[in-house]
Amino acid sequence: MIILAVESSCDETSVAISKNGKEILSNQVLSQINIHQAFGGVVPEVAARNHIIHMTRLFENALTEANLTPRDIDLVAVTYGPGLIGSLLVGINAAQSFAMAHNIELIAVNHLIGHIYAAQIESEIIFPSLALLISGGHTELILLKDHFDFTVLGSTLDDAVGEAYDKVAKILGLAYPGGPIVDQLAHLGKPTYSLPIPLSKDQTYNFSFSGLKSAVMNLVNKTKMKNEELRINDVCASFQEVCVKTLYDKTYNAIKEYQPKQLIIGGGVAANKGIRAQFRQENLKLPVVFAPFEYCTDQAAMIAIAAYYQYQKEGALKKYSLKASPTLSI
Ligand code: KG4
Ligand code: ZN
Repeated sequence: MIILAVESSCDETSVAISKNGKEILSNQVLSQINIHQAFGGVVPEVAARNHIIHMTRLFENALTEANLTPRDIDLVAVTYGPGLIGSLLVGINAAQSFAMAHNIELIAVNHLIGHIYAAQIESEIIFPSLALLISGGHTELILLKDHFDFTVLGSTLDDAVGEAYDKVAKILGLAYPGGPIVDQLAHLGKPTYSLPIPLSKDQTYNFSFSGLKSAVMNLVNKTKMKNEELRINDVCASFQEVCVKTLYDKTYNAIKEYQPKQLIIGGGVAANKGIRAQFRQENLKLPVVFAPFEYCTDQAAMIAIAAYYQYQKEGALKKYSLKASPTLSI
């Protein structure tokens, strides 16, 4: 089964083609990071306009790279949420038009489920599995009982972990997106600043990162007011240590309670070196599957893979009429 998938939920325009739920024949990704950097974050209207400019070319590039024509496509998949409404609408309209014009079935995929299925590209999901989804918009612990039989155990009550990384980077005067930069600097510093562990006494699987972000802001302000030197690498190391610890402790407790056969870690923040070092099989005593680096951040290959399994369970949409769902959860 050949699936063409479209992803445009935030600031990456992407079209991918997969074969039989495993092989990626093409994964065209156009990042708008350079454009949004000037604003210190993603500007929704600018993101949507840029998706419009590049979408058609990415369809053509994907088909050319896969050496296929529209007649070869069995199913069109598209992210319908969560994400930025304008950005989602561009992908939905492009996918819908392409499917309708070529009389191909259409399926709507949840972006978060896409991030989980990124793990299926180079590994195999073994059920029951626990997924830790850490991105710029989400921080979730999800129990996977079977394909498309998921229970959310906990999620963030405020900022997502990637969002906290990006905001801390901004406080420190670093470029956007700050996550990879903070990660890099953390490795050059030592965790010598004391920062609070979020929800340290909380027994649920929920997360919180906005208090931690505020603690970094207070630390920076106080240091400036006292005219003391701010050791930026050490701030990054201290912040990263707390993020890794809070994610690790909650995940560890969920593993103890639910006894999954595997842990999957996906989403943009799964690229983090500190997280990759801590969440090792030896520490957790169970197989840990990280989404491959190139499939951690947003791209359509993960949507194509998720669509394959979703189609086996639920089939395609009955009509070419799909609404965007900006605040969709799992
Ligand atoms: O999954 P993604 O591409 O988009 C969303 O669905 O949100 O994740 C992007 C997020 C950004 O917040 C970015 O700063 C963060 O992932 N990120 C990182 C690293 N690489 C990307 N955060 C921490 N360490 C990294 N190495
Ligand atoms: Zn994402």
